[in-house]
Amino acid sequence: MSPLLREVPRPKTYPLVGHLPMLWKQGMMGTLKQYWEKHGDLVELKLGPQRAYLVSSPDLIKRIVLDNRENYPKGDVYDAFRLLVGNGLVTSDGSFWRRQRRMIQPSFQRESLKSFVHDMVETSVATLDRWQGSLDDGVTVDIAQEMMRLTMQVIGTTMFGVDMDSKTDRSSQAFKQVMSYVIQQGNVPFRLPLWLPLPSNIKLRRSLQTLNRIVYGIIEQRKNDPGTKHDFLSLCLQAQDKETGLSMNEEQVRDEVITMFLAGHETTSNALSWTWYLLSQHPEVEARFHEEIDTVLGGRLPTYHDLSQLTYTKMVLQEALRLYPPVWLLARNVKDNDEWSGYSIRGGSIVLYSPFLTHRHPEHWENPEQFDPERFQPEAVQARHKFSYLPFNLGPRLCIGKHFALYEGQLVLATLGQHYRFSVPSGHNVEMHPETMLQPRGGMPMVVHKRY
Ligand code: HEM
Repeated sequence: MSPLLREVPRPKTYPLVGHLPMLWKQGMMGTLKQYWEKHGDLVELKLGPQRAYLVSSPDLIKRIVLDNRENYPKGDVYDAFRLLVGNGLVTSDGSFWRRQRRMIQPSFQRESLKSFVHDMVETSVATLDRWQGSLDDGVTVDIAQEMMRLTMQVIGTTMFGVDMDSKTDRSSQAFKQVMSYVIQQGNVPFRLPLWLPLPSNIKLRRSLQTLNRIVYGIIEQRKNDPGTKHDFLSLCLQAQDKETGLSMNEEQVRDEVITMFLAGHETTSNALSWTWYLLSQHPEVEARFHEEIDTVLGGRLPTYHDLSQLTYTKMVLQEALRLYPPVWLLARNVKDNDEWSGYSIRGGSIVLYSPFLTHRHPEHWENPEQFDPERFQPEAVQARHKFSYLPFNLGPRLCIGKHFALYEGQLVLATLGQHYRFSVPSGHNVEMHPETMLQPRGGMPMVVHKRY
């Protein structure tokens, strides 16, 4: 290290294990928050032998995701996810990622999104119908589970035309079962290599084989009978890269389909659960939200054209994504040594940055703990550091589903919100459970109230 460079602050650590005991004892989010509050926007950590940096300032995040992004690849920090999704858009890097992104981008542009809006509204209506047939005023439901069911159905129909809600469709049932097992296994922090003949590995390998059989089956069926569907799967099968003329082979299609399924439903469902919760805690915001949806829609279902009118609904969603970003922690590898405002960042280490922490940065957000959708008025957004708000990440690796998710969120909130409001049952304490995703601990039980 050059003598002119400063030491990055490092909290007290144990030999060999470094900061791991604190992270295990107090949880990842609590410990990182504590380190940030005590040591500032750049903190060095030791995760066993691995050096890592916690980065919380928008300027430094901009360097990672944009200005010097080639030095911060996804690398091995995404290995657990790779086990499941292979080399899909979330996990790939370099020229392969660029080509895939070019080919997939059209599926998320205005014309495709317009056609997905129909499925989003239909699925919300199916939820309404189910509730109207089975839920009495005053009963408690797990909104987290309901939102998961809804967003999974949306992703199943828009991405590969499968009815995930079907009780009779065996492939959707098997898909769900296998997927949840594989996700659970992927979350194990230190997995032993898959080739070791351990019972858990054998079960996981079998589950992956089942998953592949189902997904390849869906792909094969679509190839044999393309029909008239304009879902993501059809677009992948037809896509051809303008620069190279290449199209995707079956394995790439499989990886992208599973990637979309995983990246696209739990994220949105958590965002919606937190939004309903925040609305229930802020009656004045809830009243404005009701006023908007009642005025714009007057009792009818929303369409694509209403999205630009449902501005307050969108601001509520954006503010919920600030306080409870579903992807609360992101990580990158550091390729070569780098230098940030007089600090040395070592090659071979990892950088961690947390939308959750940066969204509560007091230098960028006034009263950061307070829920206030007004923060998303266009002038307020303009005046803020762009990299202080990153629920969808920023730079070239910006979430490809950002507009999909915002549309879906607006449409679900507007469709259900016209008929129902929710409250937290007395005595229930809503807590965060920051795992791979920021979810409510033990679900989100809420009391259902019919509005009319
Ligand atoms: C509220 C909902 C959502 C949130 C908060 C969210 C968040 C994110 C974040 C933070 C990333 C960056 C990950 C990284 O760089 O390591 C990302 C990437 C991605 N998301 Fe989303 N996402 C949401 C919804 C969706 C939806 C609905 C889809 C698809 C239908 C989707 C597909 C993807 C894909 C494919 C990537 C990888 C993009 C790339 O690197 O080229 N996401 N998302």
